[in-house]
Parts: sequence; C-alpha cells; structure tokens
Amino acid sequence: MALVPHVFLTAEQIQKRVRAMGEQISADYPEGPIYLIAVLKGAFIFMADLSRAIKTPSRIEFMGISSYGKDKTSSGQVKVTKDLDVSIENHHVLVVEDIIDSGVTLTYLINLLQQRHPKSIRVATLLDKPDRRLRPVEVSYTGFKIPDEFVVGYGLDFAEDYRNLGDICVLAEEQIPVGHSTPAIS
Ligand code: PRP
Repeated sequence: MALVPHVFLTAEQIQKRVRAMGEQISADYPEGPIYLIAVLKGAFIFMADLSRAIKTPSRIEFMGISSYGKDKTSSGQVKVTKDLDVSIENHHVLVVEDIIDSGVTLTYLINLLQQRHPKSIRVATLLDKPDRRLRPVEVSYTGFKIPDEFVVGYGLDFAEDYRNLGDICVLAEEQIPVGHSTPAIS
C-alpha cells in the first residue's frame, strides 16, 4: 500500500477564495496596521498569498506552535517552538492558520496572545474541519469548510512531505501495481 495524493481543491480555487478573503479583511479593517500572525509551518503559503490580498497596511509575524508529531493525528500536546519578536499590545491581531481541526492549537494560542493585550484579535483560517472540534473556537474568516479527510499541500504536510504542492490533496492509501510510480501532482 502507498499513500497517493488526490486533488481536492485546485490551486485556482484556492487563489480565488484567498483573494475574496483578502477583500473582506481589507473592508473590515479600514485602518492598520494589522499584525498578521501566521502559525508555522503549515500557514506559510496561505500567509504569503493572504497578506498580498489584504490592502490594509499589515505587519507580517510568525509563531511556531506544534501539536502534531510525525503522525496523522494530534498528540494533544501543544508547545511554542518560536515566539513573536514584537509586542502586540494595543494592535489589531489577525491569526492566520492553515487548518483548524480539534481547535486545541488555536485555543492555546488565543489564550496566550490575549494575555499580551492586543486591541483586537481575530482568526483567519484557510481550512476548517468542524466535525473534528474538541474546543470551541471563534473564527472570523474561513476559506473552506471541509469533511474529516487528511489533506496535504499548499503548506500542509504529512510527516513533513507534500507542503510544496500547489493544490490541496487528500491522501488515500492505495495499492500501487508493481512497476507503476505515484501519479504526479501539479
Ligand atoms: C496544524 C495546523 C494547526 C493545527 C490544527 O499544525 O497548522 O496549527 O495543526 O490542529 P488542531 O486544531 O487539532 O490543534 P501542526 O501541528 O501539524 O504543525 P505544522 O503546521 O508545522 O504542520
């Protein structure tokens, strides 16, 4: 058996949705700066595209939060692997996530950032799996609500592979006939 990626959302579908999210965020924040805080590693591509679709002056910041090991399921253990380099006190904060699953990571992060007294704090996520939620989280901007499938690409990984796929794909376990290689993905 081998893991085979099947396209679930094309690069074009993603770009169209991210542009619309950027327009909405620009309209909601007439004045900047917005402190865009992306959660590494998965959100790095979404951050690059979303930040360029936002017209309001913004600052780009990254945090490292890890709750998954090399497995497909959450370990439930959240840890900060890289903290902010700047103060967010009295600034608008928009947390940029690639995916919300259990909500454990985001709950931890929001609690942490609230203690630093931002002027406001909202969340933008490209993907949301509401069926998997263990902790309630308030999300202001959602790209796509998706079913409980393991997805990779556009920043999302499986054991650090597939982050550089342009499309978002579902990984399926399939029997690959001897002599055949894994299909290529754009
Ligand atoms: C993923 C994703 C979110 C989190 C969501 O990160 O980027 O931060 O899991 O899951 P949750 O809602 O169940 O907490 P991951 O820990 O896989 O790290 P990565 O972004 O470096 O791949």
